[in-house]
Amino acid sequence: MLYLVRAPPEDNTHEIIYNTPTVTGEKIGEEKNMIRRIIRRGTLVIGAVILLTLVLSCAPSTMRSVVDSRGFLFGVAVRPGDLLDPKDSKLLKDNFNILVAENIMKLQYLRPTATFWNWSDVDSLVRFAEENRMKLRGHTFVWHNQNPPFINNLSDKEAALKVLTETITEVLTRYKGKFYEYDVCNEVIDDNGILRNSIWMRTIGPEYIDIAFKTARQADPSVKLILNDYNNEYAGTVKGDAFYNLVKGMVDRGVPIDGVGFQLHMLAELPVNKEALQANIKRFRDLGLTVSFTEVDVRIKLPVTPEKEAAQQAVYEDLLRIAREENISCFVLWGYTDAYSWIPGTFAGYGSAHPFDQNKQPKKLYGSLRKILEK
Ligand code: XIL
Repeated sequence: MLYLVRAPPEDNTHEIIYNTPTVTGEKIGEEKNMIRRIIRRGTLVIGAVILLTLVLSCAPSTMRSVVDSRGFLFGVAVRPGDLLDPKDSKLLKDNFNILVAENIMKLQYLRPTATFWNWSDVDSLVRFAEENRMKLRGHTFVWHNQNPPFINNLSDKEAALKVLTETITEVLTRYKGKFYEYDVCNEVIDDNGILRNSIWMRTIGPEYIDIAFKTARQADPSVKLILNDYNNEYAGTVKGDAFYNLVKGMVDRGVPIDGVGFQLHMLAELPVNKEALQANIKRFRDLGLTVSFTEVDVRIKLPVTPEKEAAQQAVYEDLLRIAREENISCFVLWGYTDAYSWIPGTFAGYGSAHPFDQNKQPKKLYGSLRKILEK
C-alpha cells in the first residue's frame, strides 16, 4: 500500500510526461503556422502568375510579335533619327523585324570622297538591328543616283572598276554576315527597257553588273545578292520583261545572283495587276531566285478622300496578300509615317503614302494590314 502511494522521490515522469506533449504541441503549432504561411505565400505567387498571364493575354500583341510568329519578314526604310528618338525607335521595335537604311548606305553618304568612309551611322544601324533581333537589307552599291562627285566624275574604265570593286569589298568585309540581303545594283534598266546610261555603264560597259555581283559574293558569301528595280513587277510589260531577260542572262552565265527586288512605289489610283505580278514572281522562282518587295509605298493624289484611301488600302492589301501567299523573301515599306515621307518632295501633288499619319498614329490602313498578317 505504502509502496503504491509513495511516489519515488526523483520520479518526475509526470512532469516529463506532462511537459513533453506541451513542447511537442508548440512545435506542431509552429509547423502548422509555417505551413499555413507557405501555403498563403504559394497562393499569392500562383495568384500573381495567373493575374500576369491574364494581363498578358489581354494586352494587345504587337505587330512585331505577329510577324515573328508567322516567320514573315516585315520591314521599313529608316533614317538615323528614327533610331535615336525613343518614340520612333519604340514604334520600329513594336512593328518590324527587318530594316533598311533609306539613305545612309548610298555612296553619296557612305563614301563621299575616295578616301573617307562614313561608317558611324551604319554601325549604329547594325547595332540597333542586332540589339533588337532584326534583320537588315543593304541598299545600295551600284546606282546612277546619289553618288559622290568623285564617282560622277569618273571617266576611266580602270579607275571606275577600282572604285566599284573596292567599295563593295570594303563594305561587305566590314559587315560580313550582318546583312540578310543586299541590293548590289539598283535601277540598271531605264524606262525604255534598255541598260541605263549611268556612270558605270559609260565607264565600264554592261559587264559592270556581273562584276559587281561576283565581287559581292567573294566578299561575303552569306548575304543574299539582289538586283533591285522599279516598274519591274509585272510580267508582260516592256520594263518587266527587259528586267527578267537581264536576270535570266545573269543566271545563265552563272553570275552569283540570289534574288530580285521589286520596289513597288505604287499609286492608289492604279489597282494591282495580280495576275501579272504573280506570273512574274513565278518566273523568277523558276530561275531558282527569291523575290523581295523592297520599297513599298502607295501614294495618293491630294487631296485625300475616303474613296482614295479605300483604293490605297486595296493596293496595299493585294500586295501583302500576294507576298504572304507566295511566301516572298521580305516585305519592306519605304517609310512608315507621312511625317518623314519622301513622296511629297519627289511626286508633286501626291502624299499620304504610308500606314502611319503625320503624327505617327496608325491609320485605318495599318489595321487592315495587320489583319492580313494575323491570318
Ligand atoms: C529616295 C529616298 O527616300 C529619298 O530620301 C532620297 O532623297 C532619294 O532617294 N528608289 C530607291 C530609293 O531605290 O533609294 C529611293 O530613295 C526611292 C526610289
